[in-house]
Amino acid sequence: MQAPRSCALSTILAATSVLLLAACGGGGGGGSSTPRPPPSTPPAPQLPDASTAPALKTVFAPYFRIGAAVVLEQIDAATHPDDVALLTKHFSSITVANAMKADTIAVAEGQYNFEPADQIVAFAQDNGIEVRAHTLVWHVTSPDWFFAGDRSDPVAYRALVRHRLQTYITDVVTHFKGKVYAWDVVNEVAGATEGQIYRTDSPWYEAYSLSGEGADYIEDAFRAARAADPDVKLFINDFLTENAVKRANLLAIVQDLLDKGVPIDGVGHQIHSQINLSAAGVDAALTAVEELSPSLINEVTELDLSVYTGPSVPSNYGAGGIPNAVAGQQARTYRELFDVLRRHDASLDSVTTWGISDAETWLDYSGTTFERKDYPLLFDVQRQPKWSFWAIVDPAVQLP
Ligand code: G3I
Repeated sequence: MQAPRSCALSTILAATSVLLLAACGGGGGGGSSTPRPPPSTPPAPQLPDASTAPALKTVFAPYFRIGAAVVLEQIDAATHPDDVALLTKHFSSITVANAMKADTIAVAEGQYNFEPADQIVAFAQDNGIEVRAHTLVWHVTSPDWFFAGDRSDPVAYRALVRHRLQTYITDVVTHFKGKVYAWDVVNEVAGATEGQIYRTDSPWYEAYSLSGEGADYIEDAFRAARAADPDVKLFINDFLTENAVKRANLLAIVQDLLDKGVPIDGVGHQIHSQINLSAAGVDAALTAVEELSPSLINEVTELDLSVYTGPSVPSNYGAGGIPNAVAGQQARTYRELFDVLRRHDASLDSVTTWGISDAETWLDYSGTTFERKDYPLLFDVQRQPKWSFWAIVDPAVQLP
């Protein structure tokens, strides 16, 4: 994509006028010594024309699927035409952000609500978009009924919870069989501190640990999912894999599963980060998975780069948007990150942003110390391409 005409043209005119002035003033031929013009500062880069934006899925087709997480209302063309337009133009993958979680589907034992997810899957199928399924087992979205029962007999109680887990996964994976290309089987099960391989503040871990290994629910989940669908790719998904300590815990879990012959296909890296992200950390995370086993697939599953570089940062840009300098920093970070991602295309199967545009992001209500508007994605609140979009589709675009 060429730099915008006005920018190129003004640069040429500015250079020509300086050369002409120098020739007049510097000739020494008796003319008065006219003061040299101040050195002209290059014009600020102008955002390219949105109508010239290439489709993300076309730009990245040689490397990996490019996806967006969606919530149900965003596929409604009547109420969200701009979201539908972005989804159908730019994305080759959709992640169902919430409707496939147990707190939506698992109404009660043996009673399921597939309706919202089925609508999103149908939209994707109607528009030739593949679906990434998220997530079967997550401590945050597991309804209490999974764990109801008499704990006085821990062996019987553990067997009851295990049966519920296996039945739920079998029924849900069977329902979506042939309609999704990947499942986040377990989400955020790794420990956060050195040596704490497993997250233990999980009702699944607690229930299983009453009589046996607390982490065995992870193996049970993968085996049940594989038994229900022999073809779908099965992932363990977690955040902060760019952090060496968290990554070591997660990969210790993956190694253990591989050693036991558990059917796991890949690692999902959420990459919920900020505009000061070091792409080297992501590079290390993807490389570590590749080095663990050539059979493993990498996926970036929930990418967003908050413009606030920490929960305590007092700044709040409000609803008016972000300063150009901040947009430029975000764009440079996205550009550096996608340069790394493209280098891992042999193992990297998809890259999904956690949302379509800045108009709807979980970060706006993610419980930060105060309510603040965030701007973490590639399209702005008006669903127009941001500097971050142009930064990853065209290395020649000059950034602010
Ligand atoms: O739809 C209901 C609405 O009817 C109700 O009035 C409202 C108030 O209770 O809740 C709405 O549901 C909310 C849902 O988001 C849709 O907005 C749930 O309460 C809320 O818990 C849910 O939050 C989601 C969160 O996961 C928990 O499931 C976020 O949208 C979603 O972005 C977030 O995504 C997670 C990934 O799944 C895993 N990785 C971390 C990521 C961010 O937390």
